[in-house]
Amino acid sequence: MALNLIEQLSLETWNPSLEPAQQAAATDALETGRVLYLPHLRFEVKPDEQRFLSTQWSDGKSKNIYLRGRQRTLRGAAGASQDLAALSAMLERFSGQAQQLVSALFPHYVAQLDPGNTSFRPFEIEGRTSSWRKDDTRLHADAFPSNPTHGARLLRVFTNVNPHGKPRVWRVGEPFADMADRILPRARRQWPGEAALLHALHVTKRRRLAFDHYMLELHDRTKADLDYQRDMPQQRVEFPPGSTWIVFSDQVLHAVMSGAMMLEQTWMLPVSGMRRPETAPLRVLERKTGRALV
Ligand SMILES: [Fe+2]
Repeated sequence: MALNLIEQLSLETWNPSLEPAQQAAATDALETGRVLYLPHLRFEVKPDEQRFLSTQWSDGKSKNIYLRGRQRTLRGAAGASQDLAALSAMLERFSGQAQQLVSALFPHYVAQLDPGNTSFRPFEIEGRTSSWRKDDTRLHADAFPSNPTHGARLLRVFTNVNPHGKPRVWRVGEPFADMADRILPRARRQWPGEAALLHALHVTKRRRLAFDHYMLELHDRTKADLDYQRDMPQQRVEFPPGSTWIVFSDQVLHAVMSGAMMLEQTWMLPVSGMRRPETAPLRVLERKTGRALV
């Protein structure tokens, strides 16, 4: 089945001034599960930063190099302190520009956005081996075992900075509600006491509420079903170097097929901060299960 989840915007700067109607249209597209694609929005890597577009700065343990949440300490990188300070500065500059972009497009969100990690993903995706559950070449909506969101949205800005002309190749899949219709009947219910136990054992950083439990079930059962991976309505998208894209990654089914050298900024947004909260995975799953999930 043909699918077009891509909404193209012709912006060329990180701090555009937009009309309220443009902002509303961008927000609606994002909230209804589309990928906002900005083919002409480039992150400028300075000449003395080109050296960072390499895997050599990885500490060899983490697959990403990142500034963590509000603490802004650099993780996953190894090198001389001067170099790491310059690398941090590049990530901070990207983070600031991504923040300007999100403020320009979705002014409605600004007061409620909670900044998460700013990351640089240097490694090639293609050919990387991992367990099926961690295999991001399979379509999935993001849900993380140790980090319950309690329904908050995962807003992400990505930009391809590959210096060799290599695109970031994604597949995007059918709408979240369609996936939930198919997969939710297979989800197991949470066991009594399960959330408290996982928290006590420090498996989760806070309690895994029913919403978080169902999101993980959907994530895992979607990835585990190879027939569904192959047959669900989907499209292939190439994001070339010098382009930027924005998604709610807890909603858009996505799979990363190939590419290397990408920058990404995450924020959390409470459902109450949305223009159309009824489109949030939390509200979709509550309608389908007939009960409150947080
Ligand atoms: Fe993902």
